[in-house]
Amino acid sequence: MRWTMLQSAEAVADALIDVYEQRGSENYDESVTQTAHALQCGAHAMAAPASVTTIVAAFLHDIGHLLVDIDVHTARTHGDTDRGVAPQDLRHEDLGARFLATWFPESITEPIRLHVSAKRYLCAIDPEYVDVLSPASIRSMELQGGPMTSAEAERFAALPGSAPAVALRRWDDLAKEVGAPVPSLDTFRTLVESVIVRIPAVEDSDPR
Ligand SMILES: [Fe+2]
Repeated sequence: MRWTMLQSAEAVADALIDVYEQRGSENYDESVTQTAHALQCGAHAMAAPASVTTIVAAFLHDIGHLLVDIDVHTARTHGDTDRGVAPQDLRHEDLGARFLATWFPESITEPIRLHVSAKRYLCAIDPEYVDVLSPASIRSMELQGGPMTSAEAERFAALPGSAPAVALRRWDDLAKEVGAPVPSLDTFRTLVESVIVRIPAVEDSDPR
């Protein structure tokens, strides 16, 4: 599919939801699928209640995992990881944020771009936070560089988008519950469509 051919917010929202319908049954971790994880994370943001842009960021935050051609399973068979977590050198947060910037504002793309760093930040500033992390999440943080130093944490807290990224990170950590009730993908389709701010003309860009 050519993403650049999508010429309405409705078409972009449909195509993004289609990514979850087509690829979302891949495992997010040892307990839930990517789609279940996205829906649960979005549902936590709704319950907060967060702003619509933060809810959409929470729902879409791991889309980078679904956009890479090498998925967790393929990477594992290639020996990149045997730890049951996605290989972090794929930088799914950057991939997702760059891709989504074609249509969405920074209030959505920045929390997504920062949500991996937010875990390292929380480990530095909240001694109880590490207790909520799953073993796989602790291992992936070690791969990402471990807890931030106090200077790194100060720089992170000053970034635009860091506050919603930290909130998103806490919902992310909760969104791994087997069988948790969640809103439908269609609920998020409507929200996603409502926060699209630009549709590039066909000749303007080529995100993929
Ligand atoms: Fe996540």
